[in-house]
Amino acid sequence: MSLKIGDESWQKRALVVIREYDEERHKVSLEKMEKLCEVGERGKPSLVTDLMGDPICRIRHIPLHVMLVAEYGEEGQVIGVIRGCVKTVTRGNSVYVKLAYLLGLRVSHQHRRFGIGTKLVEHLEEWCKQKGAKYAYMATDCTNEPSINLFTKKCYYSKFRTLTMLVQPVHAHYKPINSNVAILHLPPSLATSIYNHIFTNSEFFPRDIDLILSNKLNLGTFMAIPKKYLSKCDLKRGIYPPSYSILSVWNTKEVFKLQVKGVSPLAHACCVGTRVLDEWMPWLRVPSYPDVFRPFGVYFLYGLHMEGKYGRQLMKCLCGFVHNMARDEGGCGAIVAELGQRDPVKDAVPHWRKFSWAEDIWCIKNLEKCGSYDCFTSRSSSPVIFVDPRDF
Ligand SMILES: CC(C)(COP(=O)(O)OP(=O)(O)OC[C@H]1O[C@@H](n2cnc3c(N)ncnc32)[C@H](O)[C@@H]1OP(=O)(O)O)[C@@H](O)C(=O)NCCC(=O)NCCS
Repeated sequence: MSLKIGDESWQKRALVVIREYDEERHKVSLEKMEKLCEVGERGKPSLVTDLMGDPICRIRHIPLHVMLVAEYGEEGQVIGVIRGCVKTVTRGNSVYVKLAYLLGLRVSHQHRRFGIGTKLVEHLEEWCKQKGAKYAYMATDCTNEPSINLFTKKCYYSKFRTLTMLVQPVHAHYKPINSNVAILHLPPSLATSIYNHIFTNSEFFPRDIDLILSNKLNLGTFMAIPKKYLSKCDLKRGIYPPSYSILSVWNTKEVFKLQVKGVSPLAHACCVGTRVLDEWMPWLRVPSYPDVFRPFGVYFLYGLHMEGKYGRQLMKCLCGFVHNMARDEGGCGAIVAELGQRDPVKDAVPHWRKFSWAEDIWCIKNLEKCGSYDCFTSRSSSPVIFVDPRDF
């Protein structure tokens, strides 16, 4: 690339300082930069994120977190940013490890390919090591070549797992719920013990699950059971029904908003048309689009698990129940779940293929022994990956 010829890149890099984010000093410049980074391809629809004036919102709910910015020149203009957090999670077989998650990396367009993204990652890795992290991971869309190259070629991360993002729009009509199914709202303490029972052998199950379940953004943990099995179970004593499904709901609506921009007037009119029809005649059950052209929130489903011969139908019932919750709440445009490709629950979660994407690539690195072979980078011990809602 021409910009890298000669020593211009070195001059530019020398003027870049990586610092911890300081609201007073960086907020305005950072917001300006992130807004400019959001502009999608001309003429193509793009999904933009509104952090609602809180640039730390995506890491705030994990106690050990940091945001670093790259400052350029005497004015200290923010030209790059990265967020990170450290938590303790399972790495399969009930073994816990300290893990760092790197997210929200951005470099302003005119400063790309000068090594600033790499520099931000390296500085964040140092911070994570100081906090005791043994591994670091990141997630990105499989089409994001710059990001994948940066992490795998420059920073020695290995592709680790591929996850699928399932998206279900919230319609104006209600989803029918089978009257033979009971839906229980579990208190956080009971949900914690059930999740500890189900997920300790999976990967990435967080040790502080109790904090997640009692967080105000958690709208609840719900279990669907055939009514005929209600008398056969005692959840408090660890006696589970032969068939059930369980999930929790995280309200990202209070953290950030999404908005679709750049659609054609025709596509916009079609979406609005189906919505009006669905609102006026809900009994037709028109699969309408919510108003995604204005900022909307999403509910994130996590901790999804099903058991027994009715597990699949029960999972569908639970998803329908959450859909109706979101419909009643308002301002929620979609319900999203992220699942490992071998997770059996994946096929039971209703979603729209058009809006779902099959390949969210997770890459991981051993921060102590760079490039070394170990359990995380070898074959998966479990098909189930617990996706922490705080990372979404
Ligand atoms: C991804 C991003 C942060 C890279 O920042 P950057 O400062 O340009 O990265 P660097 O200069 O440190 O590049 C390091 C390596 O990444 C790879 N890379 C960076 N941009 C690339 C591109 N456009 N195409 C292919 N590879 C690319 C290259 O391997 C590069 O090394 P090289 O320049 O020696 O070939 C930047 O493109 C960006 O902000 N993109 C939009 C947001 C985003 O996708 N963030 C990642 C989310 S996980």
